[in-house]
Formats: sequence, C-alpha cells, structure tokens
Amino acid sequence: ALHINILLIQLCMLFAPPLGFGSCIDIIVDGVTLLNEIGITPSSNPVHHNFIETEEQLAESFAYFFPPGAAAERFVSNDTLFSSLVEASKSLSKMRLSLGGNAPVMANRLAKEGCEVLLGSRISPEINHVLSKRIKVAGMSVDNADIHLILEYPNGARWGNYVSRRANRYIVHSDVHNPLLDSLEDFQNQLQDFKPDLLILGGLQMMDSFPFETGQREARLKALQNMLVSVDSNTGIHFEMASFVEESLMKDLLVYTLPYTDSLGMNEQELPNLLSLLKGGSITVLSDPYPRIASVLDQMRDLYHLLNSRLVTSSQRRLTRLHVHTIAYQAIIVTKGSLWKNTMSATAKASLTANRHVCGSPHIDTSKAKLIMDDSFSVSREEGSQRIPFEENRPVSCWAENNYEICIAPVLVCTEVYQTAGGGDNISAAGFYYTEVHFHY
Ligand SMILES: *[C@@H]1O[C@H](CO)[C@@H](O)[C@H](O)[C@H]1NC(C)=O
Ligand SMILES: *[C@@H]1O[C@H](CO)[C@@H](O)[C@H](O)[C@H]1NC(C)=O
Repeated sequence: ALHINILLIQLCMLFAPPLGFGSCIDIIVDGVTLLNEIGITPSSNPVHHNFIETEEQLAESFAYFFPPGAAAERFVSNDTLFSSLVEASKSLSKMRLSLGGNAPVMANRLAKEGCEVLLGSRISPEINHVLSKRIKVAGMSVDNADIHLILEYPNGARWGNYVSRRANRYIVHSDVHNPLLDSLEDFQNQLQDFKPDLLILGGLQMMDSFPFETGQREARLKALQNMLVSVDSNTGIHFEMASFVEESLMKDLLVYTLPYTDSLGMNEQELPNLLSLLKGGSITVLSDPYPRIASVLDQMRDLYHLLNSRLVTSSQRRLTRLHVHTIAYQAIIVTKGSLWKNTMSATAKASLTANRHVCGSPHIDTSKAKLIMDDSFSVSREEGSQRIPFEENRPVSCWAENNYEICIAPVLVCTEVYQTAGGGDNISAAGFYYTEVHFHY
C-alpha cells in the first residue's frame, strides 16, 4: 500500500456543529420522475435563480439547467419545500442512497487506490459504514447525516418540451450549518499533528447564495485563509471547485482561497466562469457542455497565467497544477519541477475513473462507451497551432510548453449512465494517485 497521508476538508462534514448535522447523504433519484411525482410541471420560463424558495422557482431553475445538461447545485431556503421533496423522493422505487460530500467521496476513491487517508471530518455512524476501512477519521461522530437531493437525468431525457443535451444532475440541499464553517478552529488545531502531504479543500459551494449576516461570510473565509496560511509549505493544497453562482462569493474566493492553493480542479462550466470573473467580467452560469480541446486549453493557459500574476504576498502559493474534467476528455497542466509528478498516468487514471464512475461499474465495458473526440485536436485556437493526432494505442498526449507540461486524455464516455453526481470528485481524486506517489518513494 502507498503511504500517502492525505487530509481532506469537507465543510459539509468537518465544519458541522457539535450536535445535529454531520456528513452528507446523497439521495439519488431520476429528476424528471421526482418532479412529476410531486406535481412540479415544466416551466415555460427558464430562470437562473441563486437559491430556491418556491416550487415555481424550482421549475424555472430546472428548466434553465436541464436542456443544456449543466450541473447545478442550489440552496433551498424553504424547509417545507425541501422536506416535501425529500419525502417524495423516498417513495420512488428507483431511489438510491449514496455517500455524499466532496471529501468523503474523494477519500473513498483514494483509499480504493491504496492510499492511506486521514479524513478530517465529523461523520455519522451510517456514513462510517460505507467508508473504506483504510480511512482514519479525525473528529467526533455526529448523530444525523445531512441530506443532499440529487436529481439525475440521462442524455436525451424529456421534461415537457425540454430535452437534455447530456447526462447530468441538479442538486438541492438545505444545509444551514455548514456554510458557517463552524468547527474550523478545532480543525486547525488538529492539523498540526496530521502533517499531511496533500490537503484537499472542497465543499465551499455550500456557502453559495446562503443568507449570511453582514460581514459573516467574509469573516469565516478570513479564518479559512488563516488556516491555509498556517499549512506547512511541504503540504500540497488542492481546491476542488464546484458550481458557484454568487458573484460576490466568487470574488471573495479569489481573495481568500485561490491564492493559497497549489492545485485546482474544475469542470468545463467552472473554468470559463472563473476566468470571466478574473478578467473583470461577470459570472457565466452556462457554457458549452461540449467545449473543444483548443478552447479549453486556451482558457487553462489564461487562468494559469492570470492567477500566478496576481500573487502579492510570500504566504501565497503559485498555482502549479490545474485539472479540468470535461465529458469528452481530461486535461491537466503541471508546472515543471513542481511537487506534482507522473502527469501522464494521472490523466489516464482520471479518464478511466470517469467511465467507471458514470457507468457505476469497476470494469470498463467498451460496448457501453464511446469516444466523442475528433481524430486530432489543435493545441490552441491561435492560427497555425500544432495539431496532435489521437493515437488509439497511445491515447494520452503530453507535451511541454513554457514552464509547464500539458496532458490530454480522451474519456471513454459512458453511454448507460448510472450516476453523474460525485463524478468530479472521483475523477479529481483519481488524478492524484500517481501524482502523489513521489512524496514517499
Ligand atoms: C414554501 O413551500 C411551500 C410548499 O411548496 C409553499 O406552500 C410555501 O408557500 C413556500 N413558502 C414561501 C415563503 O414561499
Ligand atoms: C466514486 O467514489 C465513491 C466513493 O469512493 C464510490 O462509492 C463510488 O463507487 C465511486 N464510483 C465509481 C464508479 O468508482
């Protein structure tokens, strides 16, 4: 087994208050079936709502994200509405429960790869059962798990006149404790003894569009920043992005979180969203769900340079790794000579994990997989850019540019979707497996 000591922080779990809420349980249902069950009919008026208070807003919001097939996660401020959704989903025959929360999912993935993982979280007994025995949990247990309701839909699903362009999910939750990062200080005390090689930060999207009191969110993010600053420089810090829609929160993350991480993970929606904000524009809630490699690579280069040009103090960290997962391919940029190694294997691993996760099977069945990449791709949209052929017997392409290396791996896209939720976490976690090996060997 590899002795990789990894510490994962999950707000959804770790920062739960001493009593009551703990780690997340995902209730996974077919989204359209649930909406039909509860009598929420398709809205002819797609609207992007930051949070959901009424059935009508849910219908409008779902109508906004479902047709393009963009992942979304929304806070439901109305407890009555949220409870009725949860109750209705429990009555569906195809309902499944699954381990939720970014950190536990990543922890289990890494443990399955043979890593030793220390999960800095509070978890409920029911979650403890599904965690790998290789995971050591730091933190007291709590009685009840918090619920996230996952409305999955396949490619081509119909809801009234709407048809989804790709498989994805719409998530609702009503988590009122975790956005406050309640146990951050406790956690910081434990950090000294953990001495992790890698610290993974996830779940900050729980703060998105949450009704904070004035100054409250900023104060908590400053506390998080202090914790990140206190982390030993030999510990890599990875931040897994998520669907953020509240512009002021994103701006705060640019100040308090992003400059203190070495590595970022995100999908094809989150990349242009962050980039647009950095360039002085506004949030782009929806982007092309099937972006071309050349465009994504250009955006990644931009993001890499922009973030690294903004560093101002010596306690900030250079971004040395950027992993973008899209439905069709995985792309990773890694700075030469940085702590991240074996990028080619990492990219391949991430790609295979994408298929396994979405198909819900440890084996790759090629009859349930297809490639949606062209025969070759251009490395940039700039005219005269190099084209790289896609070689079947050597599917991962890596090349050097400036002070970094780029690797691209096609994804064997699963055609019989079992689950998309948690995909980014599984995939990103898998991408660390080979990358981190050098820490101890
Ligand atoms: C909350 O949801 C319930 C059930 O859908 C609804 O009857 C009620 O009007 C909603 N409350 C508000 C404040 O919108
Ligand atoms: C994704 O990760 C979770 C947690 O490790 C695991 O339960 C699930 O089986 C994974 N999915 C796949 C298909 O690997």
